[in-house]
Amino acid sequence: MTTITRAEPVTRTPYVGRAVDRIDGTAKATGQARFAAEHHYPGLAHAALVHSTVARGRITAIDASAARAVPGVIEVLTHENAPAMKPLGKGGPIDLSAMASGTNVDYLATDEVHWNGQPVAVVVAETPETARYAAGLVKVTYQELPSVVDFAAELPNAVPLKNSMIMEHNAEKGDAESALAAAPVSVDLTFTTPPLNHNAIEPHTTTAVWDGDKLTVHEPSQCIAFLRKHLAKRFGVPEPDIRVLSPYVGGGFGGKGSVWPGTLLAVLAARATGRPVRLVLTREGVYRTVGGRTPSTQRVALGADEQGRLTALIHTSVARTSRIGGAPEPITSASRHLYAAPNILLRESGITLDLLSPTFMRAPGEAIGTFALESAVDELAWKLGMDPIELRLANLPERDPVGGQQLTRRTLRQAYTKGAELFGWRRRDPRAGAMRDGRLLVGMGVATAYHPAMILPASVTVRLHADGTVVVRCGMQEMGMGAATAQAQIAADELGVPLESVRVEYGDSDLPDGPMAGGSVQTASVAAGVIAACAKVKKEVLALARRVPGSPLRGHRLDDLHARDSGLHHAGGGQTYADILTAAGRDHVEAAIKSGMLGFVLRTLRDRRRYVKAATAVHFCEVRVDPDTMEVRVARWLSAFDAGRIVNAKTAASQMRGGVVMGIGLALSEQTLVDPRNGRIVNPSLSEYHVPVHADIPRIEVHDVGVPDPTMPLGVVGIGEVGITGVAAAVANAVRHATGKRVGDLPITLDKLL
Ligand code: MOS
Repeated sequence: MTTITRAEPVTRTPYVGRAVDRIDGTAKATGQARFAAEHHYPGLAHAALVHSTVARGRITAIDASAARAVPGVIEVLTHENAPAMKPLGKGGPIDLSAMASGTNVDYLATDEVHWNGQPVAVVVAETPETARYAAGLVKVTYQELPSVVDFAAELPNAVPLKNSMIMEHNAEKGDAESALAAAPVSVDLTFTTPPLNHNAIEPHTTTAVWDGDKLTVHEPSQCIAFLRKHLAKRFGVPEPDIRVLSPYVGGGFGGKGSVWPGTLLAVLAARATGRPVRLVLTREGVYRTVGGRTPSTQRVALGADEQGRLTALIHTSVARTSRIGGAPEPITSASRHLYAAPNILLRESGITLDLLSPTFMRAPGEAIGTFALESAVDELAWKLGMDPIELRLANLPERDPVGGQQLTRRTLRQAYTKGAELFGWRRRDPRAGAMRDGRLLVGMGVATAYHPAMILPASVTVRLHADGTVVVRCGMQEMGMGAATAQAQIAADELGVPLESVRVEYGDSDLPDGPMAGGSVQTASVAAGVIAACAKVKKEVLALARRVPGSPLRGHRLDDLHARDSGLHHAGGGQTYADILTAAGRDHVEAAIKSGMLGFVLRTLRDRRRYVKAATAVHFCEVRVDPDTMEVRVARWLSAFDAGRIVNAKTAASQMRGGVVMGIGLALSEQTLVDPRNGRIVNPSLSEYHVPVHADIPRIEVHDVGVPDPTMPLGVVGIGEVGITGVAAAVANAVRHATGKRVGDLPITLDKLL
């Protein structure tokens, strides 16, 4: 176990790589951190949503008289009286975030219903209780229209997805079907995964305050820059007149990466009533108005020679979007990069349903794609009578299997070898059902985790004060993963100052635009800006020093100098920042790095042609299965991971563990149940949608076997999502070992094993 009991004393650099306590930890642990729904305004009113009860149709009548009659109700907004919002339009980053939420629906401007649960009215009242009570009194009648809501029934109508610049859905190398047919050993398996919903502890909330035509919004968001753009378009207000504040986010996981109707309706309600309005979604409200993960049906077929060398790899998938939008998940993404098969066929298709659009959720694509791929690889190992680790090691690629690009680093061999040793893989009896712990069946499973490494543009300013303190500013998001702490560590190292003298400002749209906290991109993206800004600051400081007669830095170039002890130094001497700035009569030095979208896109495309880079891991899982009830319990877990250079050993380990916990939910318990008759989610609560709790999770050991990525800023690769990938397969493979049964249909509930 990466032993992280407490942070080392923060008195020496470098900070990067160390286990540093989160700088926002004290504020959160002591309750001083004010989350989005904890900001009070005089005259604050509260909103509640009325959800449609049909999947598709038109509202024929709304009777809000009973709701309006409730004392304390300020207004009931429906399509009959709500002010109009402007259409979102198209183009640029708006498309990127809108593609995952379908927010171009004209909420409350139309009588059309697009999904079961769509908000059809908003009640604004003096208290949240009054608003919710009155919302229950609004009577809506509909003319229902035919709807398509049953994913399984629509499988025959799946439409092939086309490759786009953002997402590649298809690939073909050689003739995989013929190679499969000719292979001496093969498997051809079908996998299904259910729809899933977001369940961040903090539900989605919006507090909207208009001051004339200026708007302030408090909302937990994974992308405040996008949110501000959306609001500017929808409400016809220039971006600078909108301020989005999101310093604390109580969990995002992809669910707070897009703009959902509650946000727009809270802002609309505030404008219509002239009052500051807060909307806090109920748990049910989150299920009804915030998208989740698509269900999937997948086929993985593998052909191999007798030595276990792959000759064919086929992975096809069907996912869903919605008639109002939604992002198709790149389900076959990992299958493109992990195995050196000479013949590869990857195909993704989509089904369009009359449901709320699906969205980003916990490694979209890879989380469920690796379940299918890594289950199939395991099954092939059974057929070959080969150890599943040996099989994988026999098929590691030298270059990218499909594109032929250079792999910037690939440490899976080390991860498998080291992980197997630490986990005690040798103790595994290769026969199914042969290991016991008392009366319980014991199973050991292994699987590969994969998530691509990406970055997005991030603008950053760094200011160095004469008193030696540093302020890093970036409108990035801190959802509890340690984003701000990591950047403080990096800035402290770059400038050679103590960590406690660095303050990081984030979560405010008035700051320079940060990237989305999604796709595991944030740490590396912001690091690039922080490093560049610090370099500019040091350059300016040196320029100031050179002007001071007698400065020991005169005649030196930045390359010769070392930033340490709050100053610039060389072998023969140095000077503190405080001395330099004071001598120069300066209060501070500031540098800004502005990263634009165009240059970024060009660099990304060039980079993609040359390199394939990713975070990878190997998960080792041991389960206990009750032979009578077939209840599965995860008993031991170990993950050996490579996420490039680790900035903070403590928060990185937590990210990995969090991913494993989410993966165990995916494997064993989570599923959204949709009524196939009317598209209504029937289990919109934590009592019926089962996320893992402490009692379900064993100690999770995590080991860093990584090396810095030579093509990423500081060698950093995002670690936010890789942890969940591969987990469901590791569990399924352990269950297969314990019971002899291959379950390809998630979640692995006991009925599927009996
Ligand atoms: Mo993530 S699912 O990119 O927030």
